[in-house]
Amino acid sequence: MSKKLHIKTYGCQMNVYDSARMADVLAPLGFIATETPDDADMIILNTCHIRERAAEKVYSELGRLRRLKAERPAGRGRLILAVAGCVAQAEGAEILARAPYVDMVFGPQAYHHLPEMVARASRAGGAQLDTEFPSEPKFDHLPETARVDGAAAFLTVQEGCDKFCTFCVVPYTRGAEYSRPAAAVLAEARRLVAAGAREITLLGQNVNSYHGQAPDGGEWGLGRLIRAAAEIAGLDRIRYTTSYPADVTDELIAAHAEVPALMPFLHLPVQSGSDRILAAMNRRHDAAAFRRLVERLRAARPDLGLSSDFIVGFPGETEADFEETLGLVRDVGFAQAYSFMYSPRPGTPAAAMKDQVPETVKEERLAALQDLLNAQQLDFNRGCVGRVLPVLFDRPGKHAGQLLGRSPYMQPVHAEVPSAFSGAIVDLRIEAGYANSLAGVPIAVGAAA
Ligand code: SAH
Ligand code: F3S
Repeated sequence: MSKKLHIKTYGCQMNVYDSARMADVLAPLGFIATETPDDADMIILNTCHIRERAAEKVYSELGRLRRLKAERPAGRGRLILAVAGCVAQAEGAEILARAPYVDMVFGPQAYHHLPEMVARASRAGGAQLDTEFPSEPKFDHLPETARVDGAAAFLTVQEGCDKFCTFCVVPYTRGAEYSRPAAAVLAEARRLVAAGAREITLLGQNVNSYHGQAPDGGEWGLGRLIRAAAEIAGLDRIRYTTSYPADVTDELIAAHAEVPALMPFLHLPVQSGSDRILAAMNRRHDAAAFRRLVERLRAARPDLGLSSDFIVGFPGETEADFEETLGLVRDVGFAQAYSFMYSPRPGTPAAAMKDQVPETVKEERLAALQDLLNAQQLDFNRGCVGRVLPVLFDRPGKHAGQLLGRSPYMQPVHAEVPSAFSGAIVDLRIEAGYANSLAGVPIAVGAAA
């Protein structure tokens, strides 16, 4: 008998990947995905703990779901409520205490245990808590399936982190760094392509720290893995995220020069432009090393578009430190970026540091940084006008007769094209660049007009 499963995903792309894999694990039990929580028999919140606001969202959503559970008509069976992901890992017991109507809480390394947990929960076995870090990686226990939503897919190649940046919860919630064997990654990539993917983003908390077992023994780094993936027929575009600047190797830089399928866009979080703050963050790169790295990457791939992450208001950050961040942004020039106010996370070293920066100062700095980054993004988008860019269409656009796709630089691109173009890579002449998107026309049509 089929049951309905609703998964709500918060946070990073790895959570998006994990949600898809949870659906794979539950499919043999008869669970079919549903877009709305209202008609679901099981609801999973796949949560994010990276900043306080992300974590708090979970509790407000649970409040809503509690009512849904209470109002469920008798005869429909129990509604199973599950909390997964990094909040579950970090606050497992606290969730069960604050929300006792939750049936199961499990961390990112435990979702291959879902069938057992569901069986116990449906026998009304009380709340299940699974936040162990198992000795065997979960990947060995996941079904070999591949469902692709649109033409762009995610594939986790590396998980966990041993870097311990002083602000970050990831090493605690995702556990120690682990790289999947190259053969398993390539087999999954082939399955994704067979299921319709033309673009794959290789995912990892520090994806370029990848050091997986090579098919012939030995070890491969990310650059080598990308070269092997590029040989898969039908895989037209490869991306990877998120990278740790200090672990960018010569081999990876060479891949940017030599592998045409590797897209000329790189998310490379720098966090700050101040050496003092970078040291306090335990980042293992200083501002000069980051600038040199960018130069080498651009020498390899002159049209490379760069994205980054920034934290403002890290403990002890002075106005002068913040100015150095602005200076680095001005010098490097970003196509796109994410910036955040520092959010103290329980248990991380930075949360206990003196000189926490007042919220009002963080807000001012964030606004100033975002003004600069938004202006750079608009410049970059306007700079694309007149260029011909290959766009992978994979979603309907805002208006009828439109499709939405992605440029090589991840910019959303709108175009009036037949719906049959969905899943195709089409050369578009870019006609307009906006704050967050582009508009273009297929060059064939443009020439005829
Ligand atoms: N592995 C990546 C980062 C993953 S976390 C790296 O090496 O940088 C994603 C982003 O969230 C980080 O780059 C950082 O900018 C932000 N972030 C992480 N912890 C944070 C915190 N405590 N407060 C504010 N932003 C944070
Ligand atoms: Fe977090 Fe630093 Fe690792 S930002 S994911 S601890 S590289």
